Amino acid sequence: MDFTGKTAIITGAASGIGKAIAIMFADHGANVVIADIEEEKGFETEEEIKRKKKNAIFIKTDVKNEASIKQLFQTAAKTFGQIDILVNNAGISKFLPFMEMTSEQWDEVIDTNLKSVFLSSKEAVQYMKEDGGRIINISSTRAFMSEPNTEAYSASKGGIIALTHALARTLSPNRIFVNSISPGWIQTENYDSLKEIDHKQHLSNRVGKPEDVARCCLFLCDPKNDFITAENIILDGGMTRKMIYEE
Ligand code: NAI
Repeated sequence: MDFTGKTAIITGAASGIGKAIAIMFADHGANVVIADIEEEKGFETEEEIKRKKKNAIFIKTDVKNEASIKQLFQTAAKTFGQIDILVNNAGISKFLPFMEMTSEQWDEVIDTNLKSVFLSSKEAVQYMKEDGGRIINISSTRAFMSEPNTEAYSASKGGIIALTHALARTLSPNRIFVNSISPGWIQTENYDSLKEIDHKQHLSNRVGKPEDVARCCLFLCDPKNDFITAENIILDGGMTRKMIYEE
């Protein structure tokens, strides 16, 4: 896959899954925009990509703030021209006791994880030109299954899946294809510290890595893959298909 000349904005790309997505797009030729609230790590990621003689820019962004998102797109377009790919990856996973959770805490999770997808996608449409574009939204298998006290996070991720097919419908005339990915357990740090039992919970016999999500993003943005839209891909090594009374 060659993304030379294309520009990809990845939110939450200073660390974790987003960073892996940014690096993989850059490795495949794309101009990469790292949008994150964390300044130090954001600039580090920019430097890491530039050391490989690839194009990247960090733009400090708070994805729950509309003015900040407008600024992100303006700066990105000024730097690289048109925008071709948006990956809405930024998110927070705050699990709070249901009966103690305040409405402010609920709003913080919903605004960061879900409202951000609405705001960024709306902005992206204005910068994606006639040949269209791709939007990938990072949801979670927690949209489909739960542990206790995960209400706000689960609601935000379920909302992303619904928003994805709504956007795909609305933006179809613009040739903008919109899909979501629902990762399961993706270990972003200290992969070597995982235990055998962690891996065995998966039909794949291993826990996921950020690069697994990145490869899926590239697949969905491959210009040849223009028959996939409004879809959600569960990327969990088969964990949500495993019956719990099995060995
Ligand atoms: P992470 O915490 O390592 O990275 C999230 C990034 O988002 C950070 O760089 C953070 O600074 C940034 N961020 C947070 N709030 C922001 C804001 N208001 N504006 C801009 N940037 C902001 O998390 P991770 O694990 O890499 O997760 C990335 C995405 O994948 C999230 O949406 C998460 O919900 C989702 N996900 C992760 C899974 C996992 O097992 N790691 C599983 C399923 C979904």
